[in-house]
Amino acid sequence: MLSLPSLLSERIRSVAGVDPELRPATRPQFGHFQTNVALRLANAEGRPPREVATRLVEQLDLSDLCEPLEVAGPGFINLRLRADVLARVASEVLAEPGAGIAAAAEPRTVVIDYSSPNVAKQMHVGHLRSTIIGDCFTRVLRAQGHRVIPQNHIGDWGRQFGMLVEQILEEGLDAASLDLPAAEALYQRANTHLKESEEFAARSRDRVVLLQSGDAETRRIWQQLIDISLAGFNATYARMNVLLSNTDLAGESIYNADLPVVAADLADRGIAVVDDGALVVFVEGFTAPAIIRNAQGGFGYTCTDLAAIRHRVGDLRADRLVYVVGAPQTFHFEQVFAVARMAGYLPDTVSAEHVGFGQVLGADGKKFSTREGTAVTLNSLLDAAEAEAAPSIALAAIKYADLSNGLQKDYTFDAERMVATTGDTGPYLQYAHARVNQILRKAEAEGFAFDAVTVLAEPTEQALALQLSRFGEVVAAVGDTLQPHRLCGYLYETAGALSSFYEQCPVLKSEGDVRASRLALCAATRKVLAIGLDLLGIEAPERM
Ligand code: ARG
Repeated sequence: MLSLPSLLSERIRSVAGVDPELRPATRPQFGHFQTNVALRLANAEGRPPREVATRLVEQLDLSDLCEPLEVAGPGFINLRLRADVLARVASEVLAEPGAGIAAAAEPRTVVIDYSSPNVAKQMHVGHLRSTIIGDCFTRVLRAQGHRVIPQNHIGDWGRQFGMLVEQILEEGLDAASLDLPAAEALYQRANTHLKESEEFAARSRDRVVLLQSGDAETRRIWQQLIDISLAGFNATYARMNVLLSNTDLAGESIYNADLPVVAADLADRGIAVVDDGALVVFVEGFTAPAIIRNAQGGFGYTCTDLAAIRHRVGDLRADRLVYVVGAPQTFHFEQVFAVARMAGYLPDTVSAEHVGFGQVLGADGKKFSTREGTAVTLNSLLDAAEAEAAPSIALAAIKYADLSNGLQKDYTFDAERMVATTGDTGPYLQYAHARVNQILRKAEAEGFAFDAVTVLAEPTEQALALQLSRFGEVVAAVGDTLQPHRLCGYLYETAGALSSFYEQCPVLKSEGDVRASRLALCAATRKVLAIGLDLLGIEAPERM
C-alpha cells in the first residue's frame, strides 16, 4: 500500500509534471505538508509564483484526501490531510495482519549467505554482525513474501584440518569431548607446532590428502570437530534469538566434488588460464587475478564461492544473491561475481549483492579487542552487554546498535549507552512498546476491543496516524535497499510520535468515541512497533 505522502506526491506529480518534493509542514496550523513546486515551475515558465500556485490548486483534485488546498507566502502550497482519511488509514494498519506490509508484486527467490563462522574457531564480532544483519534481511524479505533461503557457508574444509587432525592424534585427544574454546586452543597449538616442526608440517600435508581421499579415521575426527563446533554455534544462535538452524547449513565442504568440475569448465572454455603453475582468471579492472587452483593443485576460497554460485543459481533457483560478509572481503566478492558473470554461472537475470559492514570499535576508538589484544569473541560481547541489562534488553541493545547506523560504518561498542532506555536505542523502542501495551492491557481488562480509529482531531494524533501509514513503504524500502537503518529510524520516529501523542492526548482518561478511537490508535501503534521490532530480530516485551 502506498503511504499517504507517496500517494499525494504521485497525484501532484501527475498534474504538475515534476516531483512536488513534499516537506512536512513546519507548524500544525499549516497542515501536514508543503510543496514549493509552484515556485520552481514559475521560474521555468517566467510567471508569478502565486499565479502558478493558484492555477495548480484549481487543477489539482485532491478532495478525496485533503482539505481545500491553500496558497501561502510567495507561492507555497499547503496540504492538510482529511481527518477521516487519516483515521481510515490507521484503522487499516490495525486491521491488516502485516500492518500495511505489502506482498511483493514479483516474489523472488533470495539466497542470503550470512553468519558463516569457521569450524574449530569461536565466532567473533564479524560473525556477530553478519548474523544479526542477515537475520534481519531474512525476516524482512520473508514478510514481503519472498522465498528466502539462508545459507550458512561455514568454513568446514581446507588445509587447516590436516594440522588439526594430526595434532589430535598426536595428543591422543578425543575430539568429541572438546568444546569450542578448547578446539580453538587446539587450533593455536597446532598452528605453533606447524611453524616449529617441518616434520609435523609434512604430516599435516599428508593428512589433508587423506581427508580429501575419504580416509575413514581422518573423516571421523573431522566430523567430530564439525559436530562440536555446530553445538557451539547453535548455542550462540539460540542465545541471539536468530532464525538460523541446521537446515540452513551449507558449508564449504559440500562443494568439494564441484571444485575440479568448475576448474575444468573454466579452463576448457579458456576463461581460466595457467599462470606460474596456477589456474587463474584475469578480470578487467582487478589488480590481481582470481585464483581457481593454486600451483600445488589446491582449490581455495574463490573456487568454492564459484561452485556455491552455480549451486545457488542452478539448483536453488535463486534470482537474488546476497552476501553479508565484512567489508574487507569486498574485493573477493566483486571478483567472484565478475568471474561468475564471465562464465555464465551468474546470468544477468540474477542480481548479486555483497553487503559489507564495518567494524565494531572499543571505547578507545580502535578495533574492539580483549585486553590481551586478541579479537573479541561473540559470546564475550554478549556477556558484556548482559552485565548491564537483562538478556532480552542486552540483545536488543546490541542488535539495534548494529542495524541502526548504516551498515558500512564502524560503530563503538558502548554497552552502557546501548542499553539505555532513552535515546536512539533498542531498549527505548522496547520500552515504548511495553508502555503502550500497559495502557492497552488496562483497557483489555475492561473487556474493550480495539476496532477502529474514528476521531482524529488533535495534531499529535494525526501525526501519529500519518506516521503509521508509512510503515509498509519503509519495510519495502529495506527489502529493496538492504538498509535496516531506515526501519530503525522509522521506528524511532514512531516512538517519538507516540510520546508526543501521550503528552497532548489523554487516552484512558478520555471518554466515549474519543477514548475508543485513541485506544485503537494505540493498538495500531503497538502493532507497528511489535512487527517492526520483530523484523529487526528484537523482542517486543509486554512489560518492562
Ligand atoms: N567463513 C568466512 C569468514 O569467517 C566467511 C564466509 C562468507 N561467505 C562466503 N560465501 N564466502 O570470514
